[in-house]
Amino acid sequence: MNRITKLVLSVLGGFAGLILVFGIYVYAVSNSRITRLYNVKVTPIATSEQKKDIVEGERLFVSRACVDCHGTDLSGINFINDPAIGTFTGANLTMGKGGLPADYSLEDFDRAIRHGLRRDGSVLVGMPSFDFYAMSDSDLSILVSYIQNAKPVEKESAKQIVGPLARVLLVLGKLPLAVPAEHIDHEAKVERKVKAEVSLEYGKYIATGCVGCHGISLKGGPIEGAPPEWPEAQNLTSSGSLGKWSEKEFITAIRTGKRPDGSQMKAPMPWQNLALMTDTEIKAVRLYLISL
Ligand code: HEC
Ligand code: HEC
Repeated sequence: MNRITKLVLSVLGGFAGLILVFGIYVYAVSNSRITRLYNVKVTPIATSEQKKDIVEGERLFVSRACVDCHGTDLSGINFINDPAIGTFTGANLTMGKGGLPADYSLEDFDRAIRHGLRRDGSVLVGMPSFDFYAMSDSDLSILVSYIQNAKPVEKESAKQIVGPLARVLLVLGKLPLAVPAEHIDHEAKVERKVKAEVSLEYGKYIATGCVGCHGISLKGGPIEGAPPEWPEAQNLTSSGSLGKWSEKEFITAIRTGKRPDGSQMKAPMPWQNLALMTDTEIKAVRLYLISL
């Protein structure tokens, strides 16, 4: 072996070593975050705020996107399957074998939906609870009444597999979906009552379902951790097209996925789900968005 070859080999060896060390670091850090236990006390929902409404619960299940990951039969569907990002499947929410235990309480639902945690405080990887953290007590209990009434489906809830790229993104802070519980202030005092009316306050509440893709500022941009074929989410504030659309045009756009110029909104914009929003919800969210 001549000196040049030796030099090249030792540089390559050093490089491979660095990659290995980085790999071990990423694996260790991401694992500690995925397996961390949280000690969160959920405040019981006051009996006066507990509501049962299976029809309204189904509408919420669809319009708040639960259906995209948990399926129309609530037994869970695989929504990401990518060797680099991983395999993510919504849990079976029915009381069938492999689904939720028979004694799964309203507080357990609260811990899962608004905090992204299992009963034992472990994280629900892939459950986007930061979108649902502000959910009102009344909406939460209505959703739960629908879920508890679902036909039992026998299906083991799949384990989530966090792929290598997802781990790197997680360590770099670019993949909030992996551990939503990290992005929630579990101790914050949140007013969990909201009046369904065309107001800025209610619009802001509805817009919590848009920030996952359109960004915290709602100004759009590339969606974090998204597959390359997804288009960027658009700017929904007054400086985007919404500032120019009339209320009627906005309602049509949400209900049909068609913009005023006739162009169709592309996936993953979930207009088919959002179409189930009430007129009040759509008008309120518009009012809020164009106020930004
Ligand atoms: C982006 C996909 C996605 C969306 C949207 C979503 N979930 Fe989940 N959810 C998951 C995943 C993934 C898990 C399972 C995590 C695990 O088991 O590690 C989960 C777990 C749960 C659990 C906990 C089950 C358990 O084992 O304790 C409940 C309850 C739940 N989801 C309810 C909902 C409701 C209600 C909505 C809508 C308001 C919703 N989810 C929206 C992906 C999603
Ligand atoms: C799962 C991701 C996702 C969620 C959640 C989501 N959007 Fe979108 N949205 C998109 C993407 C991506 C586009 C761009 C589609 C395209 O380029 O055709 C888009 C486009 C739009 C447009 C068209 C804007 C324009 O300038 O043409 C409107 C309006 C819109 N979204 C409203 C909303 C509202 C309101 C919510 C919440 C109630 C919401 N979206 C939630 C992903 C999402």
